[in-house]
Amino acid sequence: MRKATWGLLLLLTCAATCDQSGQNQDGEQKGPSRRGHVSVVVVGSTGDLAKKYLWQGFFNLYASQVGKGYSFSFYGGGLSPDGRGTPLLFEILKSQDCPVDVSDERCALVREQFLRLAQYRQLKTEEDYQALGQHIETQLKQEGMVEAGRLFYLSVPAFAYADIAQRVNRSCRPPGTAWLRVVLEKPFGHDSNSAQELATQLASSLKEDEMFRIDHYLGKQVVSQILPFRKGNRKLLKSIWNKHHIDRMEIVLKETLDAKGRISFYDQYGVIRDVIQNHLTEVMTLLTMSVPKNLTDCKEINRNKLKVFSALHQLDMPSAVLGQYQTYNSEVQLELNKTKDHFSLSPTYAGIAVHTTMPQFDGVPIFLVSGKLLDERVGYARITFKNNVFCAQDQTSITCRPKQIVFYIGQGQLQYPAILVSKNLFKPALVNNGWKEVIENDDTLLFGIPLSDYYIQTPVVQQEAYTELISQVFRGRRDHFVSAESLLASWKFWTPLLNSLKHTFPRPYPGGAANGNLLDFQLQGREVRFCSEALVNMIPQEKTESFQVMQGKYRSADMVSAWSKELVERLAHDLQEAAEESVQEGTPFHLALSGGSSPLALFKQLTQHHYAFPWWNTHVWMADERCVPPNEAESNFRTIHDHLLQHVHLPYFNIHPMPVQLNQRLCVEEDGGALVYEQDIARLVNSSSFSYVLLGVGFDGHTASLFPGNRLGSSGERLVALTESPLKPHQRMSLTFGAINRARRVSVLIMGKGKHELVTQLSRIKDTPDRWPITKIQPVNGRLVWYIDYDALLGQ
Ligand code: BG6
Repeated sequence: MRKATWGLLLLLTCAATCDQSGQNQDGEQKGPSRRGHVSVVVVGSTGDLAKKYLWQGFFNLYASQVGKGYSFSFYGGGLSPDGRGTPLLFEILKSQDCPVDVSDERCALVREQFLRLAQYRQLKTEEDYQALGQHIETQLKQEGMVEAGRLFYLSVPAFAYADIAQRVNRSCRPPGTAWLRVVLEKPFGHDSNSAQELATQLASSLKEDEMFRIDHYLGKQVVSQILPFRKGNRKLLKSIWNKHHIDRMEIVLKETLDAKGRISFYDQYGVIRDVIQNHLTEVMTLLTMSVPKNLTDCKEINRNKLKVFSALHQLDMPSAVLGQYQTYNSEVQLELNKTKDHFSLSPTYAGIAVHTTMPQFDGVPIFLVSGKLLDERVGYARITFKNNVFCAQDQTSITCRPKQIVFYIGQGQLQYPAILVSKNLFKPALVNNGWKEVIENDDTLLFGIPLSDYYIQTPVVQQEAYTELISQVFRGRRDHFVSAESLLASWKFWTPLLNSLKHTFPRPYPGGAANGNLLDFQLQGREVRFCSEALVNMIPQEKTESFQVMQGKYRSADMVSAWSKELVERLAHDLQEAAEESVQEGTPFHLALSGGSSPLALFKQLTQHHYAFPWWNTHVWMADERCVPPNEAESNFRTIHDHLLQHVHLPYFNIHPMPVQLNQRLCVEEDGGALVYEQDIARLVNSSSFSYVLLGVGFDGHTASLFPGNRLGSSGERLVALTESPLKPHQRMSLTFGAINRARRVSVLIMGKGKHELVTQLSRIKDTPDRWPITKIQPVNGRLVWYIDYDALLGQ
């Protein structure tokens, strides 16, 4: 029976079009062009995804390939025994719709053939896979068929991937030159580490070019045309696709459904992992990456994507707002069998502001927003442009209206996928000849603009993403799939935010239209916050009692203490006040900064909230430096540059890195770097007395790069010295105690629970500079203030 079917099909196909031109277009896998037999195995073949999309995709593939030289067999795999799985599978297969371009008559014939080529197989054990492999081989031999390849679609939970990949590798890998393609669906991990672990496991069974990681958004018709649109209209876009013209980008996926029925998955992931880390991030890369010269060159696409990731500003807690629809928690209790006091913190809504350091988009916020149980189901990426026109008389004229480009992914008000360009921008070329222009003359508003104000284009035939992607896997085209590298880069970007939000309480929202403005959020600097105050606070937050800043004494000097956020705000405020005082006195503000991680929060506060800081009158000096080139991550100057200097308008000539690199070598005594720095200080700083020195304290009591046991006695009146650290990199350059103690103001910032023991110890000991260098910081004519957060002070 099967023999007859395969023979017949091959005959049919050759009689129709035996185009031997081969399949290897650019972007398709290279190798001998061979038609022949393709075995398709869907593992998890009766699950939801397979039922809804995958079989339709394979049916469409089959219908489109009949007549083109391939023959097929389709195996629906599952854990159930054959007796149970077979009827389930065939019920699904019979219900597949005919592709629009196939007549009913032909479709009936094609469907009949498709059903004859399909069979259910239990795929549970190693032996099951061995039997499948043997079965395919026997059939091929009996038929005398040339094998083109084997396509495995793993529509199963990700925890099963590694095992199945191993079994496919061991028992089902085709011999010779036939290809093996294994399609995988997200989730590809839960965070950076788990994604890496999964990637490593899979790589032990499959080669990278055998894996097709699906992000079904890349198969959406509009998403797949973002790069072609950018390329096709590059001359018109060239001058406006940048920070001078783009006001913001919004990438949005709103849904009306809840998570009911899939809570066991959803509750572990939440909205950021479910759709933002993947779908919306992919769209973001397509909007911001350099357009590749060759749109089907997956290597170039991958390289350009990686550049996008490496330029993104790191996100942290204030980069996001979170929500959770109000009935979610009871759904969790029900579906996960939890008691009434169980409370899930998984967000079902998130609004995130992403920023990039790419010079082209520096300062342009990219909003990524998604949520369940919202007012409408819609997906879009919208680029709004700055309004740079002044209309002298007619404010309603077309030139004065807002300008936008919208990649309308689907649903929503339009109900069809489309690319829209405001008429006052330009008339775009059609992305390809499968698209047509739409003339909408009604006055329906889309984002506040009548549809008649847009040039609109849409695909002639609408196509499901899975159909498109399945066809691409079959053709071996990889440009719309996720590479291991870009997957890991994406997780690397998202994981710190996810970690920082782990204990954040999402704002509850009622769902649908009733959400009103509750989920609106606004940008402040690079941070976001909800526009309205929360109406309901379901769970009392920790640490709410004390937002006060406390003042007191520590080691006989002044101390300011608060929770870290308030402490940093206070320190930034005090610093600005000191800078302004200098300006009023008509003298430059000479600020010496140390390395380490504690000042990073201060830098962020300064760059995002202190726009009036008198940077023009400020000189930045270094309290210490590691003897490494300044472009290395370990360099203190590099840290200060990345987190502060590049974000503020400080004249270049007011920046004073320590000269650790002279004569192409690092910190060699004879090169006299310390002396050079000292002379610079003496030349520019009145009485070599800095206006402000900011210090930290290490666990061993060191400050700046003055370590326990460093013999600085001989340095006498020296202001700068080479020192030795017990930790790598050992060689350092540092201001001396003498230089620091001449300053008008010295602040010591200590933060974090990890420093609690140190703070306690320091509060008890006498001045013992050899053992505890920090105890020697005692400004002669200036003021010392300790800034210690509650975590460090109280160990809470
Ligand atoms: C899936 C998510 O990846 O994408 C779902 O797991 C989400 O939670 C879906 O509903 C959205 O995709 P689409 O194609 O319906 O926009």
